[in-house]
Amino acid sequence: MLRDDFLLEPGLIFFNHGSFGACPRPVMQALQHWQREIERNPVAVLGRQSAALLRQARGAVATSLGALTEDLIFMPNATTGVNTVARSLDLRAGDEVLATDHEYGACDAAWRHLCARAGAHYRRVEIPLPFDPSCWAQRLLDAATPRTRLIFASHITSTTALVFPVQDLCHHARARGITTLIDGAHAPGQIDLDLQALDADFYTGNCHKWLCGPKGTAFLHVRHELQATVDATVLSWGYAEDVAGHEGFEAFLGHTGLERRLQWQGTRDLAPFLAVPAALDYLRANDWPQHRARCHAWALDLQRRVLARNGLQAIAPDHALAQMVPIPLRAVDASALRQRLFERHHIEVPITQHGTRQFVRVSVQAYNSAADLEALEHALAEAGV
Ligand SMILES: Cc1ncc(COP(=O)(O)O)c(C=O)c1O
Repeated sequence: MLRDDFLLEPGLIFFNHGSFGACPRPVMQALQHWQREIERNPVAVLGRQSAALLRQARGAVATSLGALTEDLIFMPNATTGVNTVARSLDLRAGDEVLATDHEYGACDAAWRHLCARAGAHYRRVEIPLPFDPSCWAQRLLDAATPRTRLIFASHITSTTALVFPVQDLCHHARARGITTLIDGAHAPGQIDLDLQALDADFYTGNCHKWLCGPKGTAFLHVRHELQATVDATVLSWGYAEDVAGHEGFEAFLGHTGLERRLQWQGTRDLAPFLAVPAALDYLRANDWPQHRARCHAWALDLQRRVLARNGLQAIAPDHALAQMVPIPLRAVDASALRQRLFERHHIEVPITQHGTRQFVRVSVQAYNSAADLEALEHALAEAGV
């Protein structure tokens, strides 16, 4: 059983892949392999070999996501990807950054803080529910003004699990000279991605969620013409004029601008990045597209049954959801419900909130069984929601 490939505690019914992912055994083995390799000779691996090893690992990620290796650089998480772009933007007083009102709280906070510090405006455009994908991009573009420097939008939203049609937005924003940053924290591994076709100016995505990579793995993809504008959040050797005495420490320098400035951030564990190709191999070996399709269908089916029982409506058409579904609830005490589901039924599932609306955000992953879904459905009914 595929569930046995994961280290999830026996008996735990896990419907929260969306928060931090979950990592299969072969990927954990690759991670531990690289940690041991580093310890065998830290100077050889971190100092002399890591630049080539990282390039190889990045190449595997780039190929799987329709990108060029040189346009992509590893990040520890999508939050850092968003911060890297936001801090590189050189915001001025009066500038404006547009976003949707469905953005992830931590990224919202970063934009709010950085805009306030620069005297710029961070404006969130309401995306009403139920979600209509056909007018989403136009709604954002209509809100843009001559002061709009950048549009920031999730590819798949956090609390509402909506798949935004970002390719359309990027295309039209480019034509109007507006930069785009797409927060793809949940996208790689959950939906098909072709980063070159999507053509965002900046796209950050996680490997540790739906690609099932080790924790602390993500990437930032930058359109070639903009790469020279991107600064690291932690400045290191790539910014030094004199590196005498460190010849041969390729990792300190790198070949491309992105490598030089963004790759070496001081000494840190590089093993998680080197283990990402093992995650790609695992998904490939296990026919992931077939699991994704099954999980999507099961998630929608569960949503339909719970909604029918409660007489409520879905907040999005089926094609605007993937492996996560936001099942609307009548007003509940979210923390009491989460606690009840966990303590009585050993079910891990988040209760999310958007404005005044609440949802059970169910992530269905390949390790979930039909019995897991039944258990959740019964537990929700038993809780009266
Ligand atoms: C839409 C979105 N963006 C960004 C993040 C942050 O991801 P990370 O914690 O890996 O930086 C999340 C996390 O769930 C998210 O849902």
